[in-house]
Order: sequence, then structure tokens, then C-alpha cells
Amino acid sequence: MKQTDVLVIGAGAAGLMCAATAGYRGKSVTVVDMGKKPGRKILISGGGRCNFTNENASPENYLCQNPHFVKSALSRYTAQDFIELVERHAMPFHHKTLGQLFCDNGAQDIVDILMTECEWAQVNVAMRSEVLSIKKQAEGFIVKTTDTAYQCQSLVVASGGLTMPKLGATPIGYKVAEQFELNVLPTTAALVPFTLHDHDKQKFDGLSGISLPTKVTSENGVSFRENILFTHRGISGPAILQISSFWQAGQAVTIDLLPDTPIDSLIKSWRDQHPQKSLKNMLATIMPKRFVEMLVQHKDITDKSINQMSNDEVTYLSQYLHQWQIKPNGTEGYRTAEVTLGGVDTDELSSKTFESKKVPGLFFIGEVIDVTGWLGGYNFQFAWSSGVACGQAC
Ligand code: FDA
Repeated sequence: MKQTDVLVIGAGAAGLMCAATAGYRGKSVTVVDMGKKPGRKILISGGGRCNFTNENASPENYLCQNPHFVKSALSRYTAQDFIELVERHAMPFHHKTLGQLFCDNGAQDIVDILMTECEWAQVNVAMRSEVLSIKKQAEGFIVKTTDTAYQCQSLVVASGGLTMPKLGATPIGYKVAEQFELNVLPTTAALVPFTLHDHDKQKFDGLSGISLPTKVTSENGVSFRENILFTHRGISGPAILQISSFWQAGQAVTIDLLPDTPIDSLIKSWRDQHPQKSLKNMLATIMPKRFVEMLVQHKDITDKSINQMSNDEVTYLSQYLHQWQIKPNGTEGYRTAEVTLGGVDTDELSSKTFESKKVPGLFFIGEVIDVTGWLGGYNFQFAWSSGVACGQAC
């Protein structure tokens, strides 16, 4: 049996950050992970360039049953702290829109930084090692993996959520919580594309690849101003991924297709400048042509010359384009989702240390707990912040 002060389950963003932090405190730390390589989700994130944090990260960017829970960790290890870490490692990066930071070279740079930190902190990382069982002892835990048994004082569960089962996502974190009688909130796929009912699928056939700047609003009034993207499977794009975290089965989403252009005043100016032109051709100057053709073909809007449009028709068109509604059939689920909504109930954990209130020595960090960030680097920031808070205490 191997002895280690701290055993971390999961060599992902949260687990590696926690391990290095605890290692620097002089703890002996072992990270076990069933995968071949550490940080597999980091490697595929942000289209391979890893959107590793968001400069504007604040508690408002997270969904959690207890919205106050994230405050302590996020304020003690901020986006700026992580930026300083990558700068110390001389990693080139760039700013994109909305405070999002990406690697210049690729996501491997972030994994290399975390593994270097773990090496400097003398952390032992054991890959291809799946956790099979956990037993609580009077002091600490016995953890059996496929190749070794460990005796540890502190056990940190950083096993992530259920997204991308191909990359080794397992429900082990929820099972450990249940084994120790901690509440686990129901989980669903989030930051995920919508699938469509057959009639919409047929209607939108041929729009695949079209992207539109929009403002998308959920039934409970949450809005995001970003692009939507039609795909051959349904509807995606950053605005849809964002709103999916706030959507429930059966609900509609409202999409302002022209968030920067009040269509009624535009038609008034077209009446002066282009009275003879057709509505279809004029709309095609401000929206993708294929999309406008689809609306006309399905009689959602009637094509006629601008000077023939009545005021009622202008009002209808304005409402239609600014409050376009879609009722998704569902989501693409864990197969393509970026994160898992729900998880280990934060009421069970200390917001300062992430230690279980019921089981001393047992910690949960990262995506396995009921904290879900918006799209845009917020999920990694929570992984870093929760990893550091736990690593300082475990
Ligand atoms: P993570 O899932 O990273 O790590 C968990 C580890 O536990 C895995 O390595 C797994 O192998 C291991 N494990 C599981 N079960 C085990 C068992 N039984 N035994 C041993 N090991 C086990 N976020 C963001 O902020 N910016 C971005 O750009 C993106 N992009 C993105 C793209 C895609 C396609 C996805 C799927 C996700 C993102 N995300 C993201 C989300 C982000 O990847 C995610 O929130 C973090 O990786 C969560 O980090 P964790 O360390 O909590 O879990």
C-alpha cells in the first residue's frame, strides 16, 4: 500500500491545479487518472487553443443553486492570478472578444504549465489508473485503483462531469458523494447545441453553415448577444450554447435576428430610398440571403415591393424578426456538451476549502460540483480557483 498525504482523483484542470498547490505546501501528493494523458479536456478545449480564462469572471457568470458559493474561491484566485501564472511560463496568448483569453500556440501549452508546476511541487501523477473503490478509515481513506492501493489523509475528487464520455468522463465523483451520503443535484448537459423537431429540421435544411449575430432570450428572461449557427443536426453557435444552460425541455427561445437594427425604422428609410425594391432583396442586404429565402418560401414573411407594405405589415415583420421563436426538440446531450449542469450539492461543502461538511478530509472541486460557468473561459477559471482553494487546505 502506497502512502500519500493527498490523493487527487482526476488529472484535469482542477485536479492538477490543486495538486501543485498542495505539493508546494510540502504535502506528498498523488494524482490518479484513468486516461492515457493528463488534461484531455484542456487539449480539445477552445477549438484546440483553450479559452483558459475570462478577464471579467465574476460570480454572476456561474449557475449554482447557491449563487454565493463561488464568491470566496473566485476572489482568492482570480483570472489575473492565472494570467500571471501563464506569463511566468512565458506562454503566448491573445485576447478575443468578451474578455476571453486563448493560447497562441495551442492548448498543450496549458497542460505543459500544469505538469511543470506539478513536477516542481513534486507531485506524483499516475495515468491509466482508474479508481475502483474508496473506504473511509478512522484517519483518512484507502483508495484502490486498477494498479495500486493508496492510503491518504485527504481525498480530493476532481473527476469532472459527464460530458464527452469518449474522453473518459465517468460518474465516479457523484458515486463517491452518494457513498458518503452527500446530496447530488440532478445533472444535465449544458453549453450544448439544440436539436430540432422534424418540421423545423426540414424547414432549415439548406441553412447549414449560416451564422447570424443575434440576441437570444430564454423563457426566464436571460439573454445573450452572440451568434447563432445553423448546422446539419440543428442549431448551435455561442448564443445557443449559452442559452442552453437556462433552457428546459418544452420551452421556447426567443431570438432577435436583428439586434442592432430596428426593422420598422429601416423600412421607413427604404420607403424613401428604395420604394420599388422587393422586401426579400432588401432584407438580403442585412441578413444572409439563404435565410431570407427560407422565410419567404415558408410564407413566414410575404415578399412584395417596399412601397406596397402597409403599416400593419411592417409591425408584423418587426415583431417577427425581433422576436423569432424556436421550440427546440432537445439538446445533443453529453456527447457534444461542454459542461454538466448540477452535481455535488454545494450546501454539502465549505466554500472556502471545498471540504465536505459531513466527511472531514473529503474534498470536491471543479466540474463535479454544482457550479457551471457561462461559455467563454469561465469553467476553467472555476477549475483553477476551486483547485487552488482546496490545494491550500487539503
Ligand atoms: P476534467 O473533466 O477536465 O477532468 C476530470 C478527470 O478525471 C479526467 O481527466 C478523467 O479522465 C478523470 N476521471 C474521471 N473518472 C475517473 C475515474 N473513475 N478514475 C480515474 N480518473 C477519472 N471551458 C472553458 O473554460 N474554456 C473552454 O475553452 C472550454 N472548452 C471546452 C470544449 C469542450 C469540447 C468541452 C467538452 C469542454 C470545454 N470546456 C471549456 C469546459 C472545461 O473543459 C471543463 O469545465 C473543465 O475541463 C473541468 O475541469 P475538471 O478538472 O473539473 O474536470
